[in-house]
Amino acid sequence: MLILGLETSCDETAAAVVQDGVAVRSNVVATQHDLHQRYAGVVPEIASRAHLERLMPVVQDALTQAGVAAEDLDAIAVGNRPGLVGSLIVGVSAAKALAWSLDKPLIGVDHVRAHLHAAQLVDSGDTSGASPVAAPTYPALGLVVSGGHTSLYRLSDDGGATRLGRTIDDAVGEAYDKAGVLLNAGYPGGPNVDALAQTGDPHGPDIPTLPISMLGADSLDFSFSGLKTALLYAVRGHPQGRGKSATFPRSVDDLTDTRRADLAAAFQHAASQAVVRKLARALQHGPRVHALVVGGGVSANSELRKRLAVFAQEHQLSLHLPAMAYCVDNAAMIAGYAALRLAAGDTDDLHLPVLATSRT
Ligand code: KG4
Ligand code: ZN
Repeated sequence: MLILGLETSCDETAAAVVQDGVAVRSNVVATQHDLHQRYAGVVPEIASRAHLERLMPVVQDALTQAGVAAEDLDAIAVGNRPGLVGSLIVGVSAAKALAWSLDKPLIGVDHVRAHLHAAQLVDSGDTSGASPVAAPTYPALGLVVSGGHTSLYRLSDDGGATRLGRTIDDAVGEAYDKAGVLLNAGYPGGPNVDALAQTGDPHGPDIPTLPISMLGADSLDFSFSGLKTALLYAVRGHPQGRGKSATFPRSVDDLTDTRRADLAAAFQHAASQAVVRKLARALQHGPRVHALVVGGGVSANSELRKRLAVFAQEHQLSLHLPAMAYCVDNAAMIAGYAALRLAAGDTDDLHLPVLATSRT
């Protein structure tokens, strides 16, 4: 079963061909980081225009690299929710045009749900002789940590995902991106803060302990705004005045490189702890689960990966982390997850809508 996936929900223009839901025959991602860098964040209008220019060449590359003719595809899948509406429209319109002109089924995929499929993807070159990554044993805990989402799910073997908690303010990736700006680490913040933290010590001299928000005693929601503000004060000092007229005693340029690295490490330490402590709480309060399935851009974070490995071992859970290429936004996860729906005969028609928010 060969599925072409398209992904344009945010600032990556991506297409991929996936065989049997897991073996990635091609995975092409055109990032737009260069276009959004100077604004230190994604500008929706610029993102939509760039998708429009790049999508069909990216699709062509994905087919060529997979060695697959469009006629041989079994379905066209597209991320149709959640995301920036203008960006989603580009991918969904292209997918409809392809499905209609090739007379193939169309499958709209929830981007967040697809992130939870990413851990099962393997490069098709790697599968010759080797067994594909084992599917998780359900029920499982699902964790999506990305630039737009920080959510915890209970996953069941029928593909169901019941949300147990989510961020009440910033997503963890968004907090990393803001930390990148505050620490002058480069754009996008996540990978650059991760790199800067490698040389830092979270308990270095005069490095404050950054807050880990747990919310109410039973809450499985997340909050990262306090951590972000604490980092702002640690970098620039306490402000005089409020709001836009606030002035800070120093700027990031007044910090030594060592202190910047220490603060990056302290931030990464607190952000990772915040996630792992909520997982512990979910295990404590909920029925038994067998696996922990993780996805989203922040699952590429070096410290979080290490902590999750320790956590899973301590709690006798099998850990399903995506390979690095499938952590951040990609279309292979869209095509892979769509295979489950195609196998169940669950496809969409040309009325498929785009939705800014997730149903998951
Ligand atoms: O999943 P993704 O590509 O897009 C969304 O669905 O939001 O996630 C992007 C997020 C960005 O905030 C980026 O800074 C973060 O993932 N990210 C990381 C790392 N690599 C990407 N955050 C922390 N450490 C990383 N190594
Ligand atoms: Zn994503």
